[in-house]
Amino acid sequence: MSNSRVPLKARPVSFAWDKTPLHWLPDDPFTTHTINVLHLLLPAGERWFVHVYQQVLPLIRDDRLREDVIGFIGQEAMHSQAHDEVLPHLREQGLDPTPYTAQVDWFFEKLLGDRTLPPGKARTWWLLERVALIAAIEHYTAFLGNWVLNADELDRRGADPTMLDLLRWHGAEEVEHRSVAFELFQHIDGSYRRRARTWATAFTALVFLWQRGTRFFMENDPTLPDDEARKVGWRDFHRSGRQGVLPSTGAMVRSIPRYLSRSYHPEQEGDTDQAVAYLATSPAATAAEARTGAAR
Ligand SMILES: [Fe+2]
Ligand SMILES: [Fe+2]
Repeated sequence: MSNSRVPLKARPVSFAWDKTPLHWLPDDPFTTHTINVLHLLLPAGERWFVHVYQQVLPLIRDDRLREDVIGFIGQEAMHSQAHDEVLPHLREQGLDPTPYTAQVDWFFEKLLGDRTLPPGKARTWWLLERVALIAAIEHYTAFLGNWVLNADELDRRGADPTMLDLLRWHGAEEVEHRSVAFELFQHIDGSYRRRARTWATAFTALVFLWQRGTRFFMENDPTLPDDEARKVGWRDFHRSGRQGVLPSTGAMVRSIPRYLSRSYHPEQEGDTDQAVAYLATSPAATAAEARTGAAR
């Protein structure tokens, strides 16, 4: 395992969705839709990261960290766009995500937005709170990125190669930049109480939004009978985790004390070399590389 740091750059990927089936993990609509929730949460969520970080940039007093944050902003903006581009494809297949994404947009833009705070203490407090929330969420994006890079069962089950490449390109960049959000939080604040409190908020919100998103997809999937959608629950999640097509419940539970440990650092999670190796062979990332190389 290597934790060498790499300069962060955005890769302007693009994906063609026309051959991807609705159930891109064959015969497993539950797992397909559980992972599809990423396309509901990330466009608004990662746009929000960028929005918050642009406000934090002037507060950074370390040149290297500033450079990392700028690289992070570029990567997250691209992630947000790439997941957003899956949504028209779902709509074409009879699954309109708008009722759910409208709620997610409200959540990030209004509830977690700037609010009308006067300059001064309250505004700074709210900015620090959001920087800490992003660090907590990035613990999970790195966790999921590391998971998907190693989820060989998805290949064995014949998952759609374009969707797998989207997930692994994104996952690899999450592993690449996994230290940035935490280091930024440590740099401008670092309060342990804030870290623990915002972790609890982020974790609760993620679990809530995720299970609602999965249920939304299952209920609105035009190919599924109504009773199948109503039955889904934690048991399905545990089963997919045991099968290796979702992260296991045990691995998720074990990730909690790691983030809350006083000696936590994201470098201890995931493997930079593995991420870089994936990006060197990813069809989308190599095509992006060839395009930007040709444009230079
Ligand atoms: Fe991302
Ligand atoms: Fe990220």
